[in-house]
Amino acid sequence: MNFYKQPDKLWCITENKLNKDTTKGFEGMFAQGSGYLQIRGTFEEGLAAAPQNEEYMRMPANVTIEKPHHPRSKSGVYIPGITGTHPLLKEEIVNLPNFLVLEVYADEEKLDMDTSDILNYSRSLDLRDGVLYREFDWNTKFGAMIKCEYTRFVSRNTPNIVVQSVRFTADKDCQIDVKSDINTEVRTNGFNHFIKVSKSYIDNKVLTQVETDNQDKVLMMTEIFSENFDFTADEGDYSEIILTADKTVTINKLSCAMTTRDLTDEECSFDTLSEKLSSSKQKFNSLYNDNAKEWIDMWNRSKVIIDGDENAQRAVNFSIYHLLRASNYKDNRTAICAKGFAGEAYFGHFFWDTEIYLIPFFLYTNPEIAKSLVEFRINTLNGAKRNAKVYGYDGAKYPWESSITGDEQCPNWQYADNEVHINADVALGIWHYFCATGDEKFLVKSIDVLIETAKYWTCRAEFKANGEININGVMGPDEYCCFSNNNAYTNYMVVNTLKYTLEAVKIAEKYNVTTDLSEEQISKIKLIIKKLPLKCNKSGILMQCDGFDKFEELDFDKIWTDKSKPFGQFISQERNYRSKALKQADVLMIPYLFNKAMDKETITKNYNYYYKYTTHDSSLSCIIHSIICAHLGDTKAAYNLFNKSLSIDLGTGAAEGIHIANCGGIWQGIVIGFAGMKWSYENDKLEFEPNLPKEWKRLEFNIHFKGKFYNVSIADNNTVVTEI
Ligand code: BGC
Repeated sequence: MNFYKQPDKLWCITENKLNKDTTKGFEGMFAQGSGYLQIRGTFEEGLAAAPQNEEYMRMPANVTIEKPHHPRSKSGVYIPGITGTHPLLKEEIVNLPNFLVLEVYADEEKLDMDTSDILNYSRSLDLRDGVLYREFDWNTKFGAMIKCEYTRFVSRNTPNIVVQSVRFTADKDCQIDVKSDINTEVRTNGFNHFIKVSKSYIDNKVLTQVETDNQDKVLMMTEIFSENFDFTADEGDYSEIILTADKTVTINKLSCAMTTRDLTDEECSFDTLSEKLSSSKQKFNSLYNDNAKEWIDMWNRSKVIIDGDENAQRAVNFSIYHLLRASNYKDNRTAICAKGFAGEAYFGHFFWDTEIYLIPFFLYTNPEIAKSLVEFRINTLNGAKRNAKVYGYDGAKYPWESSITGDEQCPNWQYADNEVHINADVALGIWHYFCATGDEKFLVKSIDVLIETAKYWTCRAEFKANGEININGVMGPDEYCCFSNNNAYTNYMVVNTLKYTLEAVKIAEKYNVTTDLSEEQISKIKLIIKKLPLKCNKSGILMQCDGFDKFEELDFDKIWTDKSKPFGQFISQERNYRSKALKQADVLMIPYLFNKAMDKETITKNYNYYYKYTTHDSSLSCIIHSIICAHLGDTKAAYNLFNKSLSIDLGTGAAEGIHIANCGGIWQGIVIGFAGMKWSYENDKLEFEPNLPKEWKRLEFNIHFKGKFYNVSIADNNTVVTEI
């Protein structure tokens, strides 16, 4: 098998230096996955300084100001949908045993990237096929220089198989000892979710089985073998490899994982794993090509070409890679978590990020994946109904933080109870899918979600005796205003999604599907549509919430003394909550999602008002501002904000996982922002109003719209759309 190739500067993310401060960031950036199985970019041999079995109690906290426990390195193996129950954090994704382990000794010196003498180090992730390469020269204590080359990928078309390969070449005869293992001593956010663990070694194989505290069984098996060396492992021990000067020895490792979430108890056995592993071994040489082919297909649909801006091109490739890696259209029982399954922050939960930031990318490039994300919400409707019931409301209340059942998993009541806009976001996701695909049958299949969320609003809205209707006590997208009345974004979204619901009901009737909305509920829905307020101040600024203009004005420069850290760390929460300080776009989400909501003059006025108060402490913020600036024709400001979004994960930002909403946002920054594509729920036709940054000579991408695929090429603000 030969998948060693030269890194390409537009398609590879490269680490050229070992640096203790950036190790964890690269682990996130170098995450690989098949949708089904996800792994972080840890070293095969681990780091002695970072034991993986450290236990600590992670407390629920405000995510912006908490200082999570940061081990030096964090192994991460995740199968979306395999979750455990944490006593304080509720349900979280489980970090599974690490089957990547390959421990290496050379003449009794243990390889460790911190302590060994490593020269010519480089590690590079090829975004085209998801292959991670690492190479370096190891200057051993015993005087040999060993060239080590590591390669690995998660097979996209056999998604529970991981392929690893290592080549050793020494300048003199020496002995190396290698041990392949599965590390079961791993924790998730410092917690042990395994109630049973077993491990055994048979010949060159390692077998493990763990049972999680949510009763899922996960079985893993790995096998190590060599193509050019007679390699036998002594069950659980190191295997000797005698290296002859200048002769390369290649060692391969195949790993396979299965769970009782996917298979019956009977099917999920070591026999099945063994069969799978041996059939993969037989076609070992074609595994890479099969994987690369899948990636080529995915890239053909979603590739964005930016001529004239290598930095943006590479960063955009990086974002799209992670979106594709994290997605799995074959499993609609999970969505994509906030950290893109590349780390444990946000506990593997699904947020409004799904509908607002992720679905658009998939919907316009690969609608099958968008469909599965929408189906996830249909599948979790019962959980959403339970959430509503707990509070005594009718209908369904989608969880602010969802895991696999739809029951609320956010450990902080402020967000769980108040960030109710999620219900309207979910409804928009469904309507958006319908408008972009024209799939009426699927809309009818989703109708219960629209109906049940609508029923919730009829209870959650307050109908006053004087005829006023308010939605009070909410948190809008700006999480620095945790309890407010009539949040503009929430109200705008509720009104629009209720209108869509009534339209959807009519469509459902065509298919003889009737709904159980009562007369009273229908009349309340109509009243909300008519009367839910959007309030402006005297200068015509749309107020984020009632009384926003009376909130305290802050001297940001005085308070925020180190802008490399989030603003939220410099102010008490109590003061933050009653001040004009925004975590992220809130009112401005309206003109971003609804181009027709305001004229350009009103958008400018609102932009100028809110921008000065916005801290962008959330990674979901800059890109929205970039999109609005692009629409206003201020491409310079749009480009600056776009570049800020590009840098969020490229650096140390990905240490706890990839900011996957921002990745989807970046695609939107290009297509919705600079290319000015109109949303399908506002425009029946595919239309563009481009404003490219002056640095970009040409922009090209593919778009799916109502069942057809188009190639779009924009140069000198001339748009050519060709059906493909
Ligand atoms: C943001 C939310 C977002 C969440 C997950 C928070 O910091 O304020 O809008 O949904 O992160 O990405």
